[in-house]
Amino acid sequence: MTHYAALAGLGGFLPPRQVTNGELAATLDTSEEWITSRTGIRTRHWAGPGVATSDLAVEAGHRALKSANLPLAPGAVDAVILATTTPDHPCPATAPQVAARLGLGTVAAYDIAAVCSGFVYALATASAQIVAGQARRVLVIGAETYSTILDPADRTTSVIFGDGAGAVVLHAVPEADRPGVLLGVDLGSDGSRADLILVPAGGSRQRSTLGEPDPRDRYFTMQGTKVFAEAVTRMGESASLVLARIGWPRDSIDHLVGHQANIRILRALAGWLGLPEERAVVNVDRVGNTSAASIPLALCDAAANGTLTPGSRVLLTAFGGGLTWGAAALIWPDLNAA
Ligand code: ACO
Repeated sequence: MTHYAALAGLGGFLPPRQVTNGELAATLDTSEEWITSRTGIRTRHWAGPGVATSDLAVEAGHRALKSANLPLAPGAVDAVILATTTPDHPCPATAPQVAARLGLGTVAAYDIAAVCSGFVYALATASAQIVAGQARRVLVIGAETYSTILDPADRTTSVIFGDGAGAVVLHAVPEADRPGVLLGVDLGSDGSRADLILVPAGGSRQRSTLGEPDPRDRYFTMQGTKVFAEAVTRMGESASLVLARIGWPRDSIDHLVGHQANIRILRALAGWLGLPEERAVVNVDRVGNTSAASIPLALCDAAANGTLTPGSRVLLTAFGGGLTWGAAALIWPDLNAA
């Protein structure tokens, strides 16, 4: 019997410490006005000392399981997929620890590294496992602690990124037209432009060379202006492909949930797709760019404030380092975000 993968639970978690533009402007060569006007970000959350990505992932995962009415017990899900660029360690993957801490037993658990597109990549993978009959329920988490890889002296990145985690539960349903079913997933990449978003050190490329690495090479780097244009085009094209595949006219989209990198990117993306700006879900002002956690945190926010209502047409699209991008669509189901 054919099954489809549908959204059954949603949860998010932000570390308590808020970092305002004013706080950053006190130590960096920037201003509150520059950050607000050029990015739309007013504040973001950063994890405290000793807090790692798995700590945020466990909180968000717990909330998504609760939202799906699933217990913290073996058998609740058949797989845990964690999208992250900031794993607890280079080895092993972080997902198995998250699964164990959630009490999910000896379930399949693995990480996905697609930077800001990671959550859409993880959704696609989870959906494929369900459609293939390899899993009935999958917990998909996007979690990041970018504050641990930001160069505190780099004004071009430090003002943009925030920490957080968002999670969903996908479950198998028999009907393709059931609300919540993931439709028309698209993924893409262009590795020839990997240098645009890069942490130079910490991997085998740096470790296989002789000599001590520059300590600053462990920091995240981004050529923001070049990334900006690419982000709009790639998300626009990927989203359009999904719409063409499932036969939804562009103007039938009720809510565009794009990767929350910059308010100007979200506006440009809506324009690219010919949608009114108001259809773009925005929470970048309060969380900054949370990379793989961005889409699920935006969904949580929009579900909690009543923007996403059952039956509305939702289009997800993300873009990130790699370069990578992706998109998916769904009809919003009746669920309580936790
Ligand atoms: N304060 C003051 N000035 C700054 C700051 C700052 N915090 N940051 C950069 N500037 C300066 C730059 O040094 C540059 O100065 P220069 O012209 O003298 O060299 C100038 O501002 C560039 O400003 P803008 O023209 O406003 O540049 P832009 O419009 O491209 O905005 C930004 C910069 C905010 C980084 C933008 O490019 C952006 O959001 N990029 C995309 C990020 C993105 O999409 N990320 C998604 C993927 S991320 C991932 O995968 C992890």
